[in-house]
Parts: sequence; C-alpha cells; structure tokens
Amino acid sequence: MGKLIINGGSRLEGEIKVQGAKNAVLPILAATVLNGEKNVITNCPHLSDVEKTIDVLESLGCTVCRQGNALIVDSSNASGHTIAEELMRQMRSSIIFLGAIIARFGKAVVSMPGGCEIGNRPIDLHLKALEQLGIHIEEEHGYIYCTADKLAGADIHLDFPSVGATENIMLASCMADGTTTITNAAREPEIIDLGAFLTHMGADVRGAGTDVIRIEGVKKLYGIEHEIIPDRIVAATYLAAGAATGGTVSLRGANAGHMEAMLSAFREMGCDIACEKSRLILAAPKKLKHLHTVRTLPYPGFPTDIQSPFMTLASIAGGTTVFVETIFENRYKHVEELTRMGADIKVDGRVAIVRGVDRLSGANVVAKDLRGGAALTLAALAADGTTEIENTCYIDRGYECIERELAALGADIKRTDI
Ligand code: UD1
Repeated sequence: MGKLIINGGSRLEGEIKVQGAKNAVLPILAATVLNGEKNVITNCPHLSDVEKTIDVLESLGCTVCRQGNALIVDSSNASGHTIAEELMRQMRSSIIFLGAIIARFGKAVVSMPGGCEIGNRPIDLHLKALEQLGIHIEEEHGYIYCTADKLAGADIHLDFPSVGATENIMLASCMADGTTTITNAAREPEIIDLGAFLTHMGADVRGAGTDVIRIEGVKKLYGIEHEIIPDRIVAATYLAAGAATGGTVSLRGANAGHMEAMLSAFREMGCDIACEKSRLILAAPKKLKHLHTVRTLPYPGFPTDIQSPFMTLASIAGGTTVFVETIFENRYKHVEELTRMGADIKVDGRVAIVRGVDRLSGANVVAKDLRGGAALTLAALAADGTTEIENTCYIDRGYECIERELAALGADIKRTDI
C-alpha cells in the first residue's frame, strides 16, 4: 500500500508551485462529455482521483491522452451511458457524471455510490434536483436508472448548498429547454471554475460563485482549452507544513482570494502572511497560538477539507482549540492516530477539543482518509523522531507527489512501496 517515512524536526523553508485543484478537475472532466468534441484541460494534477476519472471517461468511449499536465479529452465517440459499479465504488464523486451523461444521451445508469469514508454522503439532493429537470429516476438492485425524453429548465432550491449537487444541476441543465435557477447554490471557487468552463464552451451560465445560479439552455456546446484553478486546500496544507515546523513557505500560483478563511486562521495562530503578486508566503512564529472555535462551513466559511491539517497545528499550539465539524459526521478518523503521536484530543460527536502539547513524537500511524493523511504528514514533520505513515494511497488521491514537494521545502521524507 506504500508508506511515507518522515524524520521530523526540520524547519521547512523554500518555495513550491501549487498544483491544479482536484475538486475543479473532476467536474470539468465530466463536463467534457457534454460537447462531443476535443477539449484540452491544462494544469491537471497527477492524482489517483484524476486517473479514476479518466477511467470513467474511457469507459464511456471518450479518448483521453495526457501530455504533461494537460489532458486532451475527445468525447466525439462517446456512446456509453453506464458507469460500472467498480468505478463508482472507487470514487464516489463519479456521481457528478450523472448530469453530463443524461444531458448528452438522454439516459444514464450508475451504481449507488456505496460505503463510507468520511460520512454518509447521500445523493438525495442530486436526485431530487435532476427529477425537477424532467429526469425519470428509478433505483433498483443498487443501480440508479435515469431517463429523459427532454430536459426542461426548472427552479431548484437546494436545502443545503451541496457542491456535487450544484455541479450536477449545472451539467444537466446547460442544454435543457429554458431557464434553470439554482437557489442556495454552493459558492466554492471550483463551482466558479466549472461555470467558466461551461460558459467558454458556449453555455449560458450566470452567477456561479453566488448562491443564485441561472442557466439558460443552449443547443450546442464546443470543445475548448481551459486551465484549472490552483488547489486552495493543497496550498493551505503546504502553508500548514511551514506553520507546523516554525518555517517560512512560499507558494507560487496560489489564489489567496480563494483562501480567506484559512489565511485568517493562520494569522490568528500568529503566522505572518504576505500576498505578493504571484506569491503567497507564510512565516511561522516559534510557537503557534491556539485558535478560538473552528466551525467547518460551506464556502466562504472554513473548509471541512482543511479541518484535519489545522487540528495538527492546534495540537502543537499554546492553549485549547475547539473544532466543530458540521459538514461530514465522520471526519475525525485522524484523531486516534494523532493521539498515538502524543496529541491531546477529546472527541464528542461533531466536537473535538484539542489541548496543545509541547511536542509530538514520531510513531507508526495509518492514514484513513485523504485529508487525515495530510494531517498525519504535518504531525510527522513537526514531531521528534521518525514517523511511518501507512496507506499513502489516500494521500495520493489529492496531493501530487507530496514527498517531492515537502522535500523541496527541506523535509526529510521518503516513500517506500511496502
Ligand atoms: C465536495 C468536495 C469535498 C468537500 C465537500 C464539502 C469534490 C470532488 N469533493 O464533496 O472535497 O469536502 O464538497 O466542501 O468536489 N449531502 C446530502 N445530500 C446530497 C449531497 C450532499 O445530504 O445529495 C450532504 C453531505 O452528506 C454532506 C454535505 O451535504 O454532509 C456536503 O456535501 P457536498 O457539498 O455535496 O460535498 P461533495 O460534493 O460530496
């Protein structure tokens, strides 16, 4: 499964470039199905989740070719409308293909995204919204069968601003008859990127990035070239690596405007943040200050995806930090492992109380999900001695060659295959 072996204690210093955003690439790759033409997507990170998305595209009949960080997706010969169970199981976010497939082919079959890592992750909001667009949905034997004679624009109110559901509606409605209005839409930067991609393809999408998105259906979409936005969660993780080690980390290509809540938390912990024209620089104090309550929220609130890396920082800060995880109910799996490294964390339901300790100590730990794995990596960098982190496959879902980036900042880190 692969391990990271980290000798902690090095103060990180240096500059790296931020990779493209995983959560923007995935829906944009799904959107390439819509136009039946050739698309060039640049700044695509090398991630296992991206590889799995390519597998889905190929299973639908698209041709995908990688040239460095660019993916060339030709969907002209796509004809499949079914995503096999093993592909759905590998990556639950494959559900965002549903809207694109039904819009192109008038039918789609996907297996229910089963299992659970960070929480229940239901898809009721996706299905309810798609039904409002005129799609007939039947669930049988663990599969979802969708058919539509024609898609018709609708007013759709989301009970919760779900990122995936907002994306699915945008994908399904951009060639529907008439106008679709999404209220209480998700406002994440990745939604803005999807909106930009669709608009550039010829779709009429307004308001992406606000809580009301209006989509006027068009007849035809065209193949285009598009550059993916930088990954704000990865950027914050590498800044956190600087913060955890009392270091100074500079990022090229980060978008500070997408990172307000996280940058404000770094500042509250005593870090200096400088936003220069093309650089974002964090200089950490010798000892981090604790945060007040950290409540995860939809954008522009504090992202659930960075909760666990900040929990590592809180573990070595002076004082006590309270975390309230409001998005996913099972996102404290890293706590047990951080505790093995000497952290003082008590969890009660969605609340975690973290009392800062003087130091963490290296231990053998196991990554149990993507961001939890990143949190353990940060803990290992800050800890005395050696830490071995098992299950790097989770980290590889979202961080392109994390050991290369951290080594470039001066970390003593290596990967083994067993
Ligand atoms: C996306 C991100 C993920 C991030 C999350 C929240 C991608 C590929 N993944 O996931 O990294 O952590 O946003 O920022 O972009 N919900 C329902 N019913 C639904 C859909 C969602 O109850 O039909 C609930 C979920 O269980 C969860 C909350 O809504 O509690 C947020 O989920 P959502 O915003 O949909 O997250 P994802 O799109 O799965």
